[in-house]
Amino acid sequence: MTALTLSTAGAATLRADAVVVGVAQGAKGPVVAQGAEAVDKAFGGKLAAVLETLGATGGEGEATKVPAPAGLKAPLVLAVGLGAVPDTTDAEGEYAEEALRRAAGVAARALAGAKKAAFALPVTTAEDVQAIGEGALLGSYAFTAFQAVPKNAKGPLGEATLLGAKPRDKAHKAAVERAVTVAEEINRARDLVNTPPNELNPASFAAAATAAGKQHGIKVQVLDEKALAKGGYGGILGVGVGSEAPPRLVKLSYTHSKAEKSLAFVGKGITYDSGGISLKPAGHNETMKCDMAGAAAVFAAVVAAARLGLQVNVTGWLALAENMPSGSATRPGDVLRMYSGKTVEVLNTDAEGRLVLADALAKASEETPDAIVDVATLTGAMVLALGNRTFGIMSNDDAFRTELHEIADEVGEPSWPMPLPTDLRKGMDSPTADIANMGERMGGGLVAGLFLKEFVGEGITWAHLDIAGPAFNEAGPFGYTPKGGTGSAIRTLVRLAELTADGDLG
Ligand code: BES
Ligand code: MN
Ligand code: ZN
Repeated sequence: MTALTLSTAGAATLRADAVVVGVAQGAKGPVVAQGAEAVDKAFGGKLAAVLETLGATGGEGEATKVPAPAGLKAPLVLAVGLGAVPDTTDAEGEYAEEALRRAAGVAARALAGAKKAAFALPVTTAEDVQAIGEGALLGSYAFTAFQAVPKNAKGPLGEATLLGAKPRDKAHKAAVERAVTVAEEINRARDLVNTPPNELNPASFAAAATAAGKQHGIKVQVLDEKALAKGGYGGILGVGVGSEAPPRLVKLSYTHSKAEKSLAFVGKGITYDSGGISLKPAGHNETMKCDMAGAAAVFAAVVAAARLGLQVNVTGWLALAENMPSGSATRPGDVLRMYSGKTVEVLNTDAEGRLVLADALAKASEETPDAIVDVATLTGAMVLALGNRTFGIMSNDDAFRTELHEIADEVGEPSWPMPLPTDLRKGMDSPTADIANMGERMGGGLVAGLFLKEFVGEGITWAHLDIAGPAFNEAGPFGYTPKGGTGSAIRTLVRLAELTADGDLG
């Protein structure tokens, strides 16, 4: 991965392949952002005018390359758009952290192949340092494991040096450490999501968790298909029984000796979702290797919590199965006996995520954590409702849902609160079993949420993040988000763990 360093050098004097500056949209054209004063001086104070001539406006996503004038050590200046100039009448008049994170990501992508770039973006706080660091490390991500002929022989940006930060400042140093940890873990999850399903199956996913657990002092327990049968995990088994690659339930336990609170994260880990006997039509299954993105997010978040040494206990549950059609597969009409004891009539084998999650939620509930958050690429309906960049948040506790929405907002992950209307429950009434795995088509994302709610232990605070939209980017890269796996929801989970550790959460 790209190295991240801090430097006290000036933007004009640092030896690098490029110096990155920020440009914002002002009322009368582009405005050069704070941090780039020395660079602007080398342009005779005319950098904004030069950029305007080149068509730059300061809009988000813009990257404008300008050959450096005499007086700069770096041969290239890269101006990245920050969006509108912040309102200076507000408290601080700072750029939003997410604007910095995205601009740094755009810069890292534009400088792929360069050895070293100096980032002279506007830095005011330690949070800004973290955001720029994360953006640079996330933006330089590339998934090359399956390229026999490298598409980019030069590889990603080698080193990002942040200027304007204070290398001796405790808060700034910690911000760099957090950025590196969070970005490495997001990139770990992206790798897992991008790994094709003939390589990543429940057993190999579990093995990756076991290996990471050893490395980072996390206890990892893996239930294989025999243990799942013995334990009565009818949901996970029912989904996995059609595949040659049997299912797994992985438990990752990170504990801190002084922890006062405990969190459980539960992830949907369908390593491939063909739909099963209710087979998905062509056009709907090509990207279904992404259906384990929830489990990858949970895995990454637990490892991040451990690496950061957060003073909170975090348990991750990865519900891993491959949903395939075969002579042994669950049929529409079958009834599963779930871990909780409830029975489920499977009306559509493509509504498999809720079945594996139901068992994992019931199991996680036995330990009565202070809160459970599940993460899942659960429904196409949520994508229709919120689009490709925003995840939905449902909860049995309105205050907790609001908290998660605010946390996601703070870390730059678009999300929106969704309701769990009780009138949708009757659509899942089954004449044969306690509940069916499908209900009304309208509000399908909420129906799925209502189903999950029934498997959460009595009195436990729980929230469900449906990341079906933002987990996998089928369009072109933007900001710090690449094509393919994105690492959605990880920053939200890590921040929730941090706030819980600090006792800043209800
Ligand atoms: N994995 C899919 C949901 C999905 C859709 C994820 C698009 C990412 C992108 C899930 O298992 C599924 O198939 N859901 C069905 C549920 C329906 C059968 C009740 C859906 O949303 O159509
Ligand atoms: Mn499905
Ligand atoms: Zn699925």
